[in-house]
Amino acid sequence: MKPFDGRWLCPATFAKRIPKSGDLSRVDTTEDSANSLRSSIRRLKRLQSPTDVAQITILPQQATADVADGTLLLDAGEAAGVDMEAGCFNCSCGTCVAEVVSGGENLSEPTSEELDVLDQWNKDPEKYRLTCCVTLDRGSVTLRQSH
Ligand code: FES
Repeated sequence: MKPFDGRWLCPATFAKRIPKSGDLSRVDTTEDSANSLRSSIRRLKRLQSPTDVAQITILPQQATADVADGTLLLDAGEAAGVDMEAGCFNCSCGTCVAEVVSGGENLSEPTSEELDVLDQWNKDPEKYRLTCCVTLDRGSVTLRQSH
């Protein structure tokens, strides 16, 4: 069995061509096949990788992570390895409040619920955001956890 027949095959299709018996001796293992498989894997990775990547930095830990645009700040912080504080996860308690050190223009617009909670905590919405209800839409942001 020639798994590639000179054509591009995705790894899933390649896997289907492996005999159910698991007898790999019938699978073409020539250098051309290996190169074709590597090319297929690279193409698949490009398709799966987000092209628009944003970056979050959490202070004082100086922890950073690259995340897909539109990631919730809470999830982005966790991706950076920081144990992000949160309570309700629903934009109503204020436990997740964080100071925006830079990059506030890259965050989603505040909702009326978020503004109400920030007002209750006497936090300026220009400097503070609730990480459970704000997304990092592009670029980079640096936050300092407030609790
Ligand atoms: S966790 Fe309650 S407002 Fe964010």
